Amino acid sequence: MIPFNKPPVVGGEEENIRDAIRSNKICGDGKYTKLCSKWIEEHTGTRKALLTTSCTHATEMAALLLDIKEGDEVIMPSFTFVSTADAFVLRGAKAVFVDIRPDTMNIDETLIEDAITDRTRAIVPVHYAGVACEMDTIMDIAKKHDLKVVEDAAQGIMSTYKGRALGTIGDFGCFSFHETKNLSMGEGGALLIRDSKFIENAEIIREKGTNRSKFFRGEIDKYTWVAPGSSYLPSELNAAYLYAQFEKAQKIYDDRMRSWDMYYELLSPLKDEGHIELPVIPKGGCIHNAHMFYIKAKDLEERTKLIKFLKENGIGAVFHYVPLHSAPAGMNCGRFHGQDNYTTRESNRLVRLPLYYGLKDKEIEYVISKVKEFYINK
Ligand SMILES: Cc1ncc(COP(=O)(O)O)c(C=O)c1O
Repeated sequence: MIPFNKPPVVGGEEENIRDAIRSNKICGDGKYTKLCSKWIEEHTGTRKALLTTSCTHATEMAALLLDIKEGDEVIMPSFTFVSTADAFVLRGAKAVFVDIRPDTMNIDETLIEDAITDRTRAIVPVHYAGVACEMDTIMDIAKKHDLKVVEDAAQGIMSTYKGRALGTIGDFGCFSFHETKNLSMGEGGALLIRDSKFIENAEIIREKGTNRSKFFRGEIDKYTWVAPGSSYLPSELNAAYLYAQFEKAQKIYDDRMRSWDMYYELLSPLKDEGHIELPVIPKGGCIHNAHMFYIKAKDLEERTKLIKFLKENGIGAVFHYVPLHSAPAGMNCGRFHGQDNYTTRESNRLVRLPLYYGLKDKEIEYVISKVKEFYINK
C-alpha cells in the first residue's frame, strides 16, 4: 500500500519533545516556539512570525486584526479549503468567490477588480500547491482600491514569488504545519505580519486578549485583559516537533522536489499523448516547494475510475476541493462573482498522487506504471 500521505519524521523530533518536557515548560511561547518563530522570520524575511495552533487560526487572527465585520466582503477563490472562507465568514463577512486560472488553479487575478464593491475589505489569494498567485497584479489592485491582502500560504512554505517568500507579500500571510504539509507539527500554523503596527494587537489577540507577551518580555510588571482575544498559541510539544523539521527543512525540500521532478518527467509521455494534464509552474519568478503532485484527467467520470483503479492497486490518490460556492455553507455565506468557467470543471478533473518525505523511487515508479496501465486499457 502506498498511502497518499505520511507525516514527515526526520529525526530529532523525539529528542526535542523530551527536552521540552525536561524544561518544565510545555505550554506555549517557550524555547521551541521562539526558535520556530525566529526560523520563519530568518527564512522568509517577514517582520514578525507568530506560531499558531493552525493556519485556520492564523487566518482568523488576520480577520480579527483587520476588524472584519458583518456586511464586509472578502474576495477569494472558490477552489480552496474551507478555512480560507471560514475565518472571514465567522466575523460576519460575505465570501465573494472569483474563478480560477486553469493553469495554476489559483485565483484569476484579471477577474478580481470586477468583483470589488464598496463593501470589499480584503483579497485572499490562495497559493495552491505552493505555486504563487500573480502577486504583483493582486497587490496593485489592493493598493488602488485600498484593500488588505491576506495570503493563504497554507501550502506555501519555502516557495517564492520573484524572490520573495510566499506569505510575506501581502499584509498578512498564513502558513499551515498540519501533518499533510511539507513541514509539520501535527496541527499548527503561523501568522506572518508585514506591518509592525499590527504586531502588538496580534500578540494580544493570540494571548486571550491580554498583554502577557509584553509581561513575559519584562516590558510591564503585570499583565491584564486589554481587548477581546482568544487562545491561538500552540503547545511547546508541537513546536519542539516542528523545530526538528525546520532544522532539516532543506533535506525535506530536496527529497520532495526529487519526487515531484520524477513524477513530472515520467508522466510527460502521457501528457504528450493527450491523456492527462500536468501541473504548470508559471515562468517569471515562481519557485514552488513540491507540496503536491497532481494530474488532471479528462473529466469527473474518468477521474472517478482512475482513483478507484489506483485504490484497487494499493495506491492512495485523492481529489479536492469541492468548490466552496457549491457547498451548503458557501451558498449561505458567499456568492460567486462572474462565470464559473474553470472552478468546477478543473476541480472535477484533479487527482493528487502520493507525495511525502521519504517516498521511494520504486514507489513512484509503481504509481506511474499504474496510471499508465489505466490509460493504456481505457
Ligand atoms: C489552502 C488551505 N488553507 C487553509 C488550510 C487550513 O490549514 P490548517 O489545517 O493548518 O488550519 C489548508 C489545509 O489544508 C489549506 O490547504
